[in-house]
Amino acid sequence: MCRIARPYRLLPALTAMVLLGACHDDRAPLFAMDRAGGARLQGDPERGRQLIAERGCIACHAVPGVSGPSSRVGPPLGNMARQAYVAGLLPNTPQNLVRWLMDPPAVNPRTAMPDTGLQLADAEDIAAYLLRNAGAREKAQ
Ligand code: HEC
Repeated sequence: MCRIARPYRLLPALTAMVLLGACHDDRAPLFAMDRAGGARLQGDPERGRQLIAERGCIACHAVPGVSGPSSRVGPPLGNMARQAYVAGLLPNTPQNLVRWLMDPPAVNPRTAMPDTGLQLADAEDIAAYLLRNAGAREKAQ
C-alpha cells in the first residue's frame, strides 16, 4: 500500500539535486575553452622567449624563464594562461593577447605600456610563450 507514496518522499531530494546541478560552475578553464572554440594558438614559444629578452620587455616585466632585473613597472607575466583579462580590459584569448602585444595604446590610450613595434609573427610567438611555457615555469620555480 505504501509503495506508491514512497517515490514522492524522494522529491525534495531530487529537486535539491537538480537545483544544485544548475548552480554548478562547469565552465572549462579559459585556455581549454579557447581551444574548443577553435581559436588556435599559433607561434613558436622558444622564439617568443628570445624576443621577450631582446625587445626590452624585462625592463618592465618579470617573466619566468627570462633572466632580467625582475622589474615591477608592469605586472609579472607568469600567470597569463590563467588570467581572465589582458591588462584588465580584453577577455584573455590568444587573439586578444596578440592584439594587446602589437599595440597596447590602441587598446587603451591611457596605458603605461608603450607600443614596442612587434610584428604579428613576433606577437604570436610571445603569446605562445606566455600562454604555454611561462606559466609552467612559474609553477616550477
Ligand atoms: C615601459 C614599460 C613596459 C615595457 C617595455 C613593456 N611593457 Fe608590458 N606592460 C607595462 C605596463 C605598465 C602594463 C600594465 C598595462 C595596463 O594594465 O594598462 C603592461 C602590461 C602587459 C601585459 C598584460 C599583462 C596582464 O596582466 O594582463 C602583457 C602581456 C605585456 N605587458 C607584455 C609585454 C611584452 C611581451 C613586452 C615586450 C615586447 C612588454 N610588455 C613591454 C609596461 C611595459
